[in-house]
Amino acid sequence: MNLVLVGFMGTGKTEVSKEFARRFGMRYLSIDEMIEEREGMSINDIFKEKGEDHFRAIERDIVKEAASIDGLVIDAGGGVVLDDENMKNLKSSGAVVCLKARPEVILDRMQNKTDRPLLNVRDKLTKINEILTSRKIYYDKIEESIDTSDLTIDEIIEQVRSIFKSSLY
Ligand code: S3P
Repeated sequence: MNLVLVGFMGTGKTEVSKEFARRFGMRYLSIDEMIEEREGMSINDIFKEKGEDHFRAIERDIVKEAASIDGLVIDAGGGVVLDDENMKNLKSSGAVVCLKARPEVILDRMQNKTDRPLLNVRDKLTKINEILTSRKIYYDKIEESIDTSDLTIDEIIEQVRSIFKSSLY
């Protein structure tokens, strides 16, 4: 049984998955890191040199591979939800939880980051709102979600743990 965290950039997936894996003796796996390893370049460079479609194709392959392993906490990139096959594979591998946050909170967390090609624009807040709107139906499809905007890491972990536990029965 895996735990899979999905959700928009800046909702806390990486921090929460790493901490969850550490506390409960599971293995942390980042889809983005696997993509970078396989391509031998950063996500920014993959987008720039090979394009988003290529990135999505590799992402699809890696998601499939990760979903075939057991005992993982999978930290999935913000765009995996856009692909039906990704979601089918992830759901069949374990409990999927969507982390959410208010746009202003996302902006605050992403303000000084330059490693998200989709947010490398001057007006980040407008871009965040634009992408959030276009993806809303995909994130809303996921049954279990947690708004991390006003929660501490311990509170988030506790909620994730309770969802994960109830999915074991
Ligand atoms: C993306 C989110 C990123 C990364 C890539 C594209 C997206 O992952 O996969 O930059 O489409 O939302 P994080 O959500 O971990 O930042």
